[in-house]
Amino acid sequence: MQPRALAGQLRLRGLHRLSAMLVGVFLLLHLVNHLAGLSGQEAHMTFMAKARAFYRHPAIEIPLIGLLLWQVGSGLRMLVRGWTKRRGAVTWLQAISGGYLAFFLLNHVGAVIAGRTLLGLDTDFRFAAAGFFAPPWQWFFAPYYFLGVVSLFVHVGCAVYWNVARRGRAVLLSGISLLGVAFATSLVLALSGALYPVDIPAAYLATYGQ
Ligand code: HEM
Repeated sequence: MQPRALAGQLRLRGLHRLSAMLVGVFLLLHLVNHLAGLSGQEAHMTFMAKARAFYRHPAIEIPLIGLLLWQVGSGLRMLVRGWTKRRGAVTWLQAISGGYLAFFLLNHVGAVIAGRTLLGLDTDFRFAAAGFFAPPWQWFFAPYYFLGVVSLFVHVGCAVYWNVARRGRAVLLSGISLLGVAFATSLVLALSGALYPVDIPAAYLATYGQ
C-alpha cells in the first residue's frame, strides 16, 4: 500500500476510535438507564427523566447526532475498503458487528427522532416496548434489540482485543461478548413484559395500526 493511502487509513481509524469514545459517554448512560429499567417501567422512566437533562440539551444532542453519523459513515467506509483484505475470525467479527451497529443506529435514532417530531410521542420506555405488544412486531423487535446490544459489546470487545497483550485476549473478548448476550437477554425480557407487567397506552399501539 502507498504510504499516503496507509496514513489516510490510520487517520480514519484514529478518528473513528476518538468519536467512539465521545459517543461512549452517552451510550454508557443509555445502557445504565436500561439496567435501571430491569427493576420496573417506572424506574426506567424516572432515570431517563434525569438523564435527559444532560443529553437532550441542544449543546449535547446536536453534536451527539453528528458524531453518530460520522461513526456510521467512517465505519462503513472501513468496512467496504477492507472487504477483500480482511483475514481471521476477529477481524470479521469486528466488521459484521460494526455493520449491524450501523444498520441499528440509523434505524434506532431515526425512529426516536420521527417518534418525537412526527408522531409527537414521548420516546420513553413505552415507545421502546410498544412493538412487543403489537403482534406480529415482537418477532422483529426481539432480535433487533438483542442483536443491537450484543453487537455493541462484541464490537467494543474486538477493539479491546487488538489493544491488549496477546495472552488472554481471546478470553477477554469472549467474556465481554457473553456479558453482552446476558444484558441483551434481560433487556428484551424486560421490554416484552416477561420480568414485570408493562403498561403501553393506546397512542403508542396506534402507531402499529392496533
Ligand atoms: C434494548 C436496547 C435499547 C433500547 C430499548 C433503546 C431505547 C431507546 C429510547 C427509548 C431512546 C429515546 C431516548 C429519549 O427519548 O430520551 C433511545 C435513544 C437512543 N439510543 Fe437507544 N435503546 C437501546 C439500545 C441502544 C444501543 C445498543 C445503542 C447504540 C449502539 C443506542 C443508541 C441510542 C441513541 C444514539 C439514541 C438517541 C439519543 C438522542 O439523541 O436523543 N440504543 N434509545
